[in-house]
Amino acid sequence: VDGVPPSLSARVIGSFAFLTVKDRLPTILTKVIDTIHRNKNKFLEEYGENGIDAEKQTISLLSKMRNELQTDKPILLLTDNLQDTESWNEYMRRQQRLLGDQESVSWFKCPWLYVECYMYRRIQEALILNPPISSFDVFKEVKTQSFFDSQKAAMTLCTYLADIYKNMEKLSKDQLGEYFNKLLQVSLWGNKCDLSISAGQENSQKTSPIDSLNSLQAFVLVDDSNRVWSALSSPQRQAGSVKPAGARVDIVLDNAGFELVTDLILADFLVSSGLARQVHLHGKCFPWFVSDVTANDFQWTIRQAMAANHRWMSKSGAQWQKYVKEGVWCYHDHPFWTQPHEFCDMAADAPDLYAALQEADLVLFKGDLNYRKLTGDRDWDHTVDFSTALRGFEPAPLCSLRTLKADVQVGLQPGQGQKLATQDPNWMTSGKHAVIQFHSPKAE
Ligand code: F6P
Ligand code: MG
Repeated sequence: VDGVPPSLSARVIGSFAFLTVKDRLPTILTKVIDTIHRNKNKFLEEYGENGIDAEKQTISLLSKMRNELQTDKPILLLTDNLQDTESWNEYMRRQQRLLGDQESVSWFKCPWLYVECYMYRRIQEALILNPPISSFDVFKEVKTQSFFDSQKAAMTLCTYLADIYKNMEKLSKDQLGEYFNKLLQVSLWGNKCDLSISAGQENSQKTSPIDSLNSLQAFVLVDDSNRVWSALSSPQRQAGSVKPAGARVDIVLDNAGFELVTDLILADFLVSSGLARQVHLHGKCFPWFVSDVTANDFQWTIRQAMAANHRWMSKSGAQWQKYVKEGVWCYHDHPFWTQPHEFCDMAADAPDLYAALQEADLVLFKGDLNYRKLTGDRDWDHTVDFSTALRGFEPAPLCSLRTLKADVQVGLQPGQGQKLATQDPNWMTSGKHAVIQFHSPKAE
């Protein structure tokens, strides 16, 4: 496309995309295969011999895929006839058209974003083709473990929230803004704990999330939190708008475990403080990038919080359940979130979702993958404006809360990227740095 840099790709030997496709994706696949194998007896108990057959078949499909990946074979069309199958296959044809007819779209010769998403969709296909175990979540065990490993930090947050609420009526607008800022940062750093970057290795929050904020501040490369606060505390109303009073905030969730708890704490604060009238939470339709939130994870997390042997955590859990029941919180999972598209395609390829986001006064995009999709996962110059990289994607005022785990970063000051690179060559992929990056459509 004219004037738009190329997609990151494993084609570039030595790049992080290359290393991911070469090493990290096969590692994740191998763990998936192990997990299915370890659950053999469970399948036997639940589905008898059919369960065992399904286990074998699924493993064989996944091993075959791992081999295709490792030998850079062409990307295959999906065969499972789900609601999104055709659009995946159409996307693959689109990639082939972009590549021309000299070579085939293959694991290393296509955009990294596409191929990484495709791997998770193929895992889903392997399960769908083996009905008795279709709904098995191959990442459930690691997600559960990561939740329990960071439970203490989660409890600290619930206690912190309860303390804020004790004085809620007396808080000035400035104090409210300060708490908002803190909880926004907690949610930002919660993104450190995903299990895709660690290829499924333990990666949980051990230290107190509030106490570490000061020392982390220096690692926030772009901090637009003041602009986020303005969008929230004085939402823009279009002339003649019939929107109800109070903001609607949408959170496009990323990972289950500690990060989800930080997001729910933020969502709780938003509505309990009256800053928002409603929070819409967006999750994934099937297991995705190891630790991403599905509807099951969402419900499970709330139930776990309710059942926790901790006064403030169980209280939070009960409150969350109530918010969901009353429709103050709404959970959604649109198939677009588990497709490989850049978000600038959303208006054309998922107009219903785009229209839904347009109802929001603020959309928070959690995590690295969402950042990659916001910016198209392209080889942008670091000084390009965030709004340029969005390429017209502006359903509402939006903000990315992301720790850096892929080599794309825009909106930096001249020289900032070079300086970071001399301090730490892996600054874009180590997860140590973060951004709070905001964009708002121009007021008409
Ligand atoms: O390569 C690291 C990675 O797998 C990226 O592909 C992906 O962007 C990231 O991990 C997932 O991170 P997050 O959970 O923050 O989206
Ligand atoms: Mg994730």
